[in-house]
Parts: sequence; structure tokens; C-alpha cells
Amino acid sequence: MITLKTKEQIAKMKAAGKILAECHRQIAGKIRPGVTTMEIDRFVEDFLASRGAIPEQKGYHGYPYATCASVNDVICHGFPKDEPLNDGDIVTIDMVVNLDGWLADSAWSYAVGQVSEEARRLLDVTKRSLYLGIEQAVVGNRIGDISHAIQTYAESNGYSVVRQFIGHAIGQEMHEEPQVPHYGPPHRGPRLKEGMVITIEPMLNIGTFACKIDPDGWTARTADGSLSAQYEHTIAITADGPLILTEQ
Ligand code: MF3
Ligand code: CO
Repeated sequence: MITLKTKEQIAKMKAAGKILAECHRQIAGKIRPGVTTMEIDRFVEDFLASRGAIPEQKGYHGYPYATCASVNDVICHGFPKDEPLNDGDIVTIDMVVNLDGWLADSAWSYAVGQVSEEARRLLDVTKRSLYLGIEQAVVGNRIGDISHAIQTYAESNGYSVVRQFIGHAIGQEMHEEPQVPHYGPPHRGPRLKEGMVITIEPMLNIGTFACKIDPDGWTARTADGSLSAQYEHTIAITADGPLILTEQ
């Protein structure tokens, strides 16, 4: 069932999104060679607590941490680790913030120190693909219009789009209907209506889109070991166009 949110409910999600956006800005200032993703995870726990918010991912289907920290060939759902980040790594930090029962979800890929030309271009194209998807998130369009815009741009730049993990509606639950694939034909799927709130979260790989899961049951890696990046926002569909709740 697709639930539409009222303006008041969207305002609550926007308040959660504001905290999340501020948290990502703080993380951006901390990412450098030598820092561990476990330190980032602890920072996020403390930061959210200081704002009266809860890390929704912790305990979700048994997921053990506040953040997912996905380094280099890890596509998503990587565990924070005590291992230091290295110069040249790329790392995606993903989290869901719960403020007074309303959620916001955003992931951001960060360059650690000086990254290769190849990694830089992957980050830039992945971020741009997110914003091209967001442009399609308007009343009257269909989910497939978002999917198609992302896939077309990603593939025209020589990258593959991950199939196994997709965006979703969000509200008081992390994963609501409809699903939001980042690939597929235009003009298909559910029609976008005012009051829908969805995530758009493309994961792009330099090589194949095929994944393998580590023995920990969570960490998803590219099957060929190639680099993977991800950017994610939570977006409300409004009469005035897409409202990005996690960019404030
Ligand atoms: N934030 C993720 C998403 O974008 C969900 C993470 S799965 C969890 O949908 F179990 F780690 F929470
Ligand atoms: Co997320």
C-alpha cells in the first residue's frame, strides 16, 4: 500500500532530514587518511543523541551499527571497522535518522585524501545521476521516469547500475511502497503523487553490476572487485516539485 504524507508529516521528516544533512557535513570534515569508520560511527551515535534523534539502522533486522560504511568495492551495507581509511579510498556513509518517529535516509560517498581520476569521475557521475533522478520526481511522472534517467546517464558514462538494491518510499517505516529501482524503462510503474516520500539512492559500479555478499551476511561487494559509489537523498513529491528533505 502506498501511503501519502500530509504537509505536517513531511515537516517532521524534514526535521529529521535537517539533522541528517548536518551530520553528513560534519562527517565530510572528518574523513581523511587514518580515520576509522568505527570512529565515524561513534561520532554519528553521539551527534544524533545530542539532537534527540535515534540511529534507525541499529538493530534493523539485526544490523549492528548506526551507519553503513562501504569502502571501495563495497556497494552497500558495509560494517564500520577499526581499520584506518587509506589515502585514495572512497567510502560511502549511509544512515537513517529517526526523530520523534519520523525517518530520513541519506548516503554520501566521500573521497579519502587524493583519489584517482577514475574514482573522482565515478563519484561525480554517481552524484549527478542522483540529481537527474530527482528532477524526474514530479507529480504526474512515474517511478520508471526516475529509474530511466539514472540508468541512461550512468550507462552513457560507461558505468553499471546496481540491480539488487533499490530506493523505496519511507515514513514511519524505513522501507515502504513503492520500490524505486535505478534502472528500467520510462513511463512505467506507479504514478507519482503529491505527498509521496521516497529515497533515490543509485549505486554505480565501474565494472559489472553483479554483487556478492560477504560471510557476515550484510556486506555487498562488486563481483569483479571494481569500485562502487552511492549518493542518496530522501525526497518529498510536492505540488511545487521535488523537495529534498536531506539537503538543508
Ligand atoms: N539506509 C539503507 C537504505 O538506503 C538501509 C540500510 S539497511 C540497514 O535503504 F539494515 F542497515 F539498516
Ligand atoms: Co540509506
